[in-house]
Amino acid sequence: MNVKLFAVGVVAAITLSGAAFAGDAAKGADVAKKSCGTCHTFEQGGAKKIGPNLFGITTRGPGKAEGFNYSPSYKAAAAKGFAWDAATLDQYITDPTAFLKDKTGDAAARSNMTFKLAKPEDRADVIAYLATLK
Ligand code: HEC
Repeated sequence: MNVKLFAVGVVAAITLSGAAFAGDAAKGADVAKKSCGTCHTFEQGGAKKIGPNLFGITTRGPGKAEGFNYSPSYKAAAAKGFAWDAATLDQYITDPTAFLKDKTGDAAARSNMTFKLAKPEDRADVIAYLATLK
């Protein structure tokens, strides 16, 4: 193994994971309103829409919105256990169904969230905003 290359890889990985929460939360609030607001509310105690309320998402764990009926695949992924942090949120918002396939190990897993946020900088901004909701 090339030790130098390995070290560069580790540094790059740390920098990347550190950068994910480093988005612009103010811009993220706008993106969230436009891109996620059709299906989600963000304020404490906010109603469910097509998707669950997202207040406290980075601290409450997956599948915890009261009274929301998550998809079977989502429940299976949550039962296996994962935390919502910058990396998992980025992976999820990029492609929710691919995320659930990965977490459950089930190729037939399907998310009820049919939306994908394509631009990495929009995802970083939205995630920085979500992290302020606690
Ligand atoms: C078309 C509707 C729709 C849009 C747009 C949408 N979502 Fe969702 N979202 C859902 C649904 C439905 C679920 C529940 C998924 C399931 O049960 O499989 C969900 C679940 C989630 C969860 C997990 C919540 C929990 O309680 O564990 C997160 C996080 C999330 N969405 C973030 C976002 C973000 C951020 C955006 C905008 C970039 C967004 N969503 C846009 C419908 C949507």
